[in-house]
Amino acid sequence: MDTHAYARWFRDSTPYISAHRRKTFVVLIGADALTGADLTSIVHDLALLHTLGVRLVLVHGCREQLDEELPDATFVGDRRVTDESTMRRITHINGRIRSQLEALFSMGLPSTPMHNTDITVVGGNFVTARPVGVIDGVDHLFTGRVRKVRTAPIHAALEHGALVLLSPMGYSPSGQVFNLTASELAADVAIALKADKLIAFDVLPHLKDADGRRVSGINPGELDTRLDDPSIGDNTANHLRALGRAVRSGVARGHLVSYLDDGALLAELFTAAGVGTQVSEKLHGMVRRANVTDVAAIVDIIRPMEESGALVRRSRDRLEAEIDHFLVAEVDGIVVGTCALFPHDKAAELSCVAVRESFQNQPGLRVGTHLVEAAERLAAESGITRLFVLTTQAHHWFERAGFTLATVDDLPMEKKQLYNLQRQSKVLFKTVESV
Ligand SMILES: CC(C)(COP(=O)(O)OP(=O)(O)OC[C@H]1O[C@@H](n2cnc3c(N)ncnc32)[C@H](O)[C@@H]1OP(=O)(O)O)[C@@H](O)C(=O)NCCC(=O)NCCS
Repeated sequence: MDTHAYARWFRDSTPYISAHRRKTFVVLIGADALTGADLTSIVHDLALLHTLGVRLVLVHGCREQLDEELPDATFVGDRRVTDESTMRRITHINGRIRSQLEALFSMGLPSTPMHNTDITVVGGNFVTARPVGVIDGVDHLFTGRVRKVRTAPIHAALEHGALVLLSPMGYSPSGQVFNLTASELAADVAIALKADKLIAFDVLPHLKDADGRRVSGINPGELDTRLDDPSIGDNTANHLRALGRAVRSGVARGHLVSYLDDGALLAELFTAAGVGTQVSEKLHGMVRRANVTDVAAIVDIIRPMEESGALVRRSRDRLEAEIDHFLVAEVDGIVVGTCALFPHDKAAELSCVAVRESFQNQPGLRVGTHLVEAAERLAAESGITRLFVLTTQAHHWFERAGFTLATVDDLPMEKKQLYNLQRQSKVLFKTVESV
C-alpha cells in the first residue's frame, strides 16, 4: 500500500475508532475457531480492539476438543448429557483452553503487534447456572443453562481495563459446576451486559442470498428463515440463533465473521461495507428500500427542507419516477427519514438525506447515520467505489461520517455540467470499501 492509500485507509477508519471506543463487545470464539483458525492473529486483532478502548468479553467453546476426548458421549438432539466424569473432563479441557488464550494475550515480544500492550485477562464465578433437567425423558445431569449473569463484577473488571474471558461453565448456589453451550452463554452475557455487539467467529465468511451474493445485513426475522437451510451446519445455526436472540433482546448488533479469513473482524468493524453479515433490528429493520406508497411520507419530510434551502426542490412526479433509488428509515412503522442513491458509473450521488425534524439528533436512534450506513453498504454491494454528496447545510455532518471536502471539478462530468452555481453547495466524497 502506498503512503497515500495507507493514510486514506487510516483516515477512513477514524469514525469507527471513535464509535467503538468504550463500547462493550461480547465475542464468541467457538471450539471450531479455536482449532481451525490462526488463533494468534485473532488474539492480536482482539488486543488491537482492546487498545482502542473497546470493552471486551470473550466466550470460548470447547465442544470439538470434548468430542475428540469423549467420542462416546450421549446427545439428546444437539445437547450433550453431562455426567459427573464428563463434567470433570470438561473442567480440565476448559482450563487448558483458558491457559492457551491467556498465554496468547500475554505475548509482548517486540516482533508482535502486542509489544507494549499490557492486557489483564480475568475470569471468575460470573455466571450462575441451573440444570437443563429432564428433556425427552433423559436427565441431562450437569448440562446447564444460564440462570443469571453477575453483571456488576464484569462491568467492574471492564472498567478497570481488564478483558473478561468466560469458559462455558456456570456455578449453582449449591456449589455444583454445570456445562453450558458457548453460543447460548455468549448471547445471555451480551443481553445481560446490554452489550453493543455480539460477534461470532464462524466457518462461514457471511450469509449469501439466492444469487450467491453476500448478505451484509439481515434482521432477526429474516435470519430465522435461514436456520432451516440444510447447507448451514449445526455450529453456524447455533451462532446465528445466538445473534438473532441477542439482537431481539436489545443488543444493538450481531456480527458473523469468518475465523478462516485473516483480518475479517477488523474489516467488519472498521469499514462501511464490512465483510461479514450484520444482524440488526436497527439498520436493516429501520432502513429499507422505498416504494410508491412512501412518496407521501417522503414529500412530508423533505418539503420543509426544500423551503429552507437545505434540499433541492423535487416535484412529486419526479419523486415517483425515481422512487427505486430511495431508501427510507422507519421507526414503529413511521417513515422518519430518507435518502437516495444515484449511480454515475463507479461513483454514486447520495442525495436527499433527510430526517423528519422531530427525529433529528436523537442519540438513541441516529436515523441519519443509519441511512448513510445502509446506503454505503448498498453502494458497496453494487460495485460503487465512491460516494459523493452536494450539501448546503450539512457538510460538517457528512465530514463526521467520513466524507471529505472536494471541488466541483471532482464531480462526474454530467453532474459537473448540472452544478447549480447559485446554490454554492459543498461537494464531499467518500471512498466505499469494496465487498
Ligand atoms: C443532517 C441530518 C440528515 C442528520 O440526521 P440525524 O438523524 O439528525 O443525525 P444523527 O442522529 O445520525 O447524528 C446526530 C449528530 O450529528 C450532529 N448534526 C446534526 N446535523 C448536523 C449538521 N447539519 N451539521 C453538523 N452536525 C450535525 C448532531 O449535533 C449530532 O451530534 P452528536 O452525536 O455529537 O450529538 C438531518 O439533520 C437533516 O435531515 N438535516 C436537513 C437536511 C440536510 O441538510 N440534508 C443533507 C443534504 S443531502
